[in-house]
Amino acid sequence: DPKAAVLGLESSCDETAAAVLRADGTILAEAVLSQLREHSLYGGVVPEIAARAHLEHLPRLAAQVIAEAGLGFADLAGIAATSGPGLIGGLIVGASLGKGIALAHRLPFVAVNHLEAHALTATLPGLVPGGARFPYLLLLISGGHCQCVAVEAVGRYRRLGTTLDDAVGEAFDKAAKLLGLPWPGGPALERLAAAGDAARFALPRPLLGRPGCDFSFSGLKTAVANAVARLPGGAPTETDKADLAAGFQAAAAAVLADRAGHALAMLPGATALVVAGGVAANAAVRHALGAAAARHGLPLVAPPLRLCTDNAVMVAWAGLERLRLGLTDALGHAPRPRWPL
Ligand code: KG4
Ligand code: ZN
Repeated sequence: DPKAAVLGLESSCDETAAAVLRADGTILAEAVLSQLREHSLYGGVVPEIAARAHLEHLPRLAAQVIAEAGLGFADLAGIAATSGPGLIGGLIVGASLGKGIALAHRLPFVAVNHLEAHALTATLPGLVPGGARFPYLLLLISGGHCQCVAVEAVGRYRRLGTTLDDAVGEAFDKAAKLLGLPWPGGPALERLAAAGDAARFALPRPLLGRPGCDFSFSGLKTAVANAVARLPGGAPTETDKADLAAGFQAAAAAVLADRAGHALAMLPGATALVVAGGVAANAAVRHALGAAAARHGLPLVAPPLRLCTDNAVMVAWAGLERLRLGLTDALGHAPRPRWPL
């Protein structure tokens, strides 16, 4: 039934989100609350604060999107809640709420893998002209994840490569911190880089050209730290900061493009390079990835930013796909902080 609707809940990190989606992909309602302000004082996500904020806001957001969709809980075809990987406190909040609603209204419950939700976003009808077709390569680049995944079908994923140390968003944030920018530093670093000379500092491009598609970013971050320390006076001027930001961004973009290119070579038959995660907001990164995809004769598919970062639309969509296959979960399903695809 194309009109059957599913409620999606997301609470695995620092976004509290709820959405109602119809089986045909129509978004009936969506809401996202960012906890940036709660965590910025601490320079990173504090798990306990995140869990409490999810608990405070998620039940209200869920009721709000149901009302906006013009439905009651009992009208739903199912409830989908992110059940891992992520911060366990937040996962427990979202999964428990989802199970509670499912139990009260005798609805099927779907425990959604957050990575699967990112992976399937590109197949949301209306998002990609003509629709993303399997198989495609997913490059997931966020603050917590950095991996290349072959998406072959709903439920069929192969991780081709991952980071050996930091996620790329984490590296952006650490480099930004070294330049005195507030957390999360990725967007601020990009703005700073616009005025910088990327060629002034010779920064490393870890693993560039090496076989496979693993990533490494800690050496790049350390190189920025060393460059700062070697500056006369030990403190960067505004010009130094802009040049270092530009150099870092160019190195990160080059590495991401190189690794994505290798991953595409590992997935013959790929129809597209799909990007997801907060770092996909970076224009230099998108540009480099577009060029890497073009070298393989493939399009770069970048969902709109609100669907690239953490959201509940993707969770509801993954839930709908699993429901279609009859893949529901028992109410005893336990959230998993670690849950590889
Ligand atoms: O997907 P996301 O919102 O949350 C998770 O990490 O799950 O990604 C956030 C990450 C942060 O590390 C942030 O600094 C980075 O994405 N980011 C960016 C940009 N916008 C967000 N990095 C580089 N350039 C940007 N414009
Ligand atoms: Zn995510």
